[in-house]
Amino acid sequence: MENYAGTSAVPETAAVESEAAIPARLLPVAELHLHIEGTLQPELIFALAERNGITLPYSHIDELRQRYEFTDLQSFLDLYYANMAVLQTEEDFAAMTHAYLERAAASGVRHAEIMMDPQAHLSRGIPLETCVNGVASVLATSREDFGISTMLIAAFLRDLPEESALEVLDGLLAMDAPIGAIGLDSAEVGNPPAKFERLYARARGAGLRLTAHAGEEGPASYITEALDVLKVERIDHGIRCMDDPDLVERLVQERIPLTVCPLSNVRLRAVDTLADHPLPAMLAAGLNVSVNSDDPAYFGGYVDDNFTQLQAVFELSDFDRARLAANSIHSSFASEERKAELLEELNGGDATP
Ligand code: HPA
Ligand code: ZN
Repeated sequence: MENYAGTSAVPETAAVESEAAIPARLLPVAELHLHIEGTLQPELIFALAERNGITLPYSHIDELRQRYEFTDLQSFLDLYYANMAVLQTEEDFAAMTHAYLERAAASGVRHAEIMMDPQAHLSRGIPLETCVNGVASVLATSREDFGISTMLIAAFLRDLPEESALEVLDGLLAMDAPIGAIGLDSAEVGNPPAKFERLYARARGAGLRLTAHAGEEGPASYITEALDVLKVERIDHGIRCMDDPDLVERLVQERIPLTVCPLSNVRLRAVDTLADHPLPAMLAAGLNVSVNSDDPAYFGGYVDDNFTQLQAVFELSDFDRARLAANSIHSSFASEERKAELLEELNGGDATP
């Protein structure tokens, strides 16, 4: 297995210490690509349905689990949106968020930037305040309760018109929602980034950080468009950049973070098997990649599961793993102080064994 010491994926200020100095342990990481609604586990779906008097179209948990066979992104999205029906009250959103943070802490996550899909709740008649306040109430004390600093990202559904996104962004700003960034998700092909140029300009003007899904199922050109038209700082997924060597060179030069989700890519058939995943090639190319779970309840695992399975297939060295962890911390929207703290922990300080 190649060693990436010579690549530029970690800037000098973040130097990972020598390979020998990094013990095999659960690494402190930042999770940058996570949809909170994608953390709804089948057990919680059933518990919330019962609490809210909702009849699910599955008679038991195993019947629901049998539906977790996806053929592409849309086949997943259909189930993901349908299961959101159980989220009715602030307490429901809080319970989902609490469960994620508890599990994430056990994965080594020390900082999490969490997307939620307000439009998917508004369209079901759930007010913005209910979903935002429910999630935010748990994030407010995540550092004390779970050792995880957090940021909430409002993600917009790219298969809806830009007008809807603009209206929701205005609503979030009017209620002074505790969001730090915006994202763009849902059905990618046929919904290019440029459709949301005004949304991103408005969010940028409001001081929000910017990320967008691009190059998951969509072409490499969507990545370029997200950078040039939306002026995003980070790309979610981005694996299709490997189809375009000039784009790879640009992403390396500009150190654009790509929040890669290996198990998601396998489950949604963006790649055939984990062994076919481009992550090692992306690392070798010097790209600034991190490992993330996307929708862990649906795709077979949290961040630690992603690392474990990558390790099993690619025999990642401790150095590779530390580089991925360092990339995640550097690519986060956390304060410089928080990043420095996490990098110190990564470089041999106080990581949980
Ligand atoms: N891709 C696009 N939209 C999404 C995803 C994803 O993996 N998960 C939740 N919304
Ligand atoms: Zn995603």
